[in-house]
Amino acid sequence: EDEEEKFLTQECKNLLLSLPKQKGWRTPYLYEFQGFWCQSKKIQAIISFQKHFISRESDVILATIPKSGTTWLKGLVFSIMNRKHIDVKNLKNHPLLHSNPHDLVPFFEYKLYSDNQIPDLSRLPDPRLFATHIPFNSLMQQNSIKNASPKIVYLCRNPLDTFVSSWHFVNNLRPKSLPPFQIEEAFKMYCDGIIGFGPFWEHMLGYWNESLKNPTAVLFLKYEAMREDIVSNLKELAKFLGCPFSVEEEQEGVIKEIAKLCCFDKMKNLEANKTGKSIKNFENKYLFRKGEVGDWVNYLSPSMVEQLSQIMEEKLAGSGLTF
Ligand code: A3P
Repeated sequence: EDEEEKFLTQECKNLLLSLPKQKGWRTPYLYEFQGFWCQSKKIQAIISFQKHFISRESDVILATIPKSGTTWLKGLVFSIMNRKHIDVKNLKNHPLLHSNPHDLVPFFEYKLYSDNQIPDLSRLPDPRLFATHIPFNSLMQQNSIKNASPKIVYLCRNPLDTFVSSWHFVNNLRPKSLPPFQIEEAFKMYCDGIIGFGPFWEHMLGYWNESLKNPTAVLFLKYEAMREDIVSNLKELAKFLGCPFSVEEEQEGVIKEIAKLCCFDKMKNLEANKTGKSIKNFENKYLFRKGEVGDWVNYLSPSMVEQLSQIMEEKLAGSGLTF
């Protein structure tokens, strides 16, 4: 039996018995739950979240599939939303200099509702800021989110880079007593859609389609575009969040200060990000690897690139989403 599963509620254990399963990347199994692949402990947390969370219209939810820049997005949105209380021109005391972004913007399924907790979030001041990896369809199975329609920001990254980042991350977390997780094996699983919260194409398309239907509720961002032009992406983000940058702020360089505060090199080298575990079991230092666009060329063979490109073309065909 999977060690992690010993601590699940009986209700969750019973549910798992009825779900299709496959070998996981990090855990013995991934289960097919509500149409996506998920670890057992996360399934329990998601069920609890779906049952108990009470959303408000003013909430902001950051959504990603793992390894597409979640940590970065958390830092940026936290800074945008809190800039009235924090002097971005005098950053000595800025929370991001002393805390990992995952401590400032909690995940529903990794933190708030993990391990059978039912947190009281009612006293958090508005606007509350949360994050999740849950796919759009499942997020909409959370009735209060469906009804309150909070703002959702989705960050998407090129699947070739997301795959390489995921493979590195899982290898870093693997006990040294086990042989390394071979890239070929990981690649096959990724192409078959078997990865936490995947298939990746369904994850992206869920949020993409909604962003087209309902652009005031879902903002769809791309990692590569943010790397290329952070200033206009931050402006768009702030506007979407209902707190656009003023002309004065722009002239004072506030947008650039936020970009600088959250840039890869700055974040990677902070003490709070070199040590500690802001998400249980994950060392913060592994959240910052290279932060580059196109690093896949160093890891994928031409036939892998061809195969994955073909899958992307097929699965995203007609959607308008391209990389
Ligand atoms: P690489 O492994 O390609 O370097 P997540 O935050 O969703 O776990 O994603 C991790 C990926 O985002 C890693 O990609 C990591 O290096 C990169 N990353 C982390 N912080 C970043 C930042 N401030 N700016 C840009 N990329 C960042």
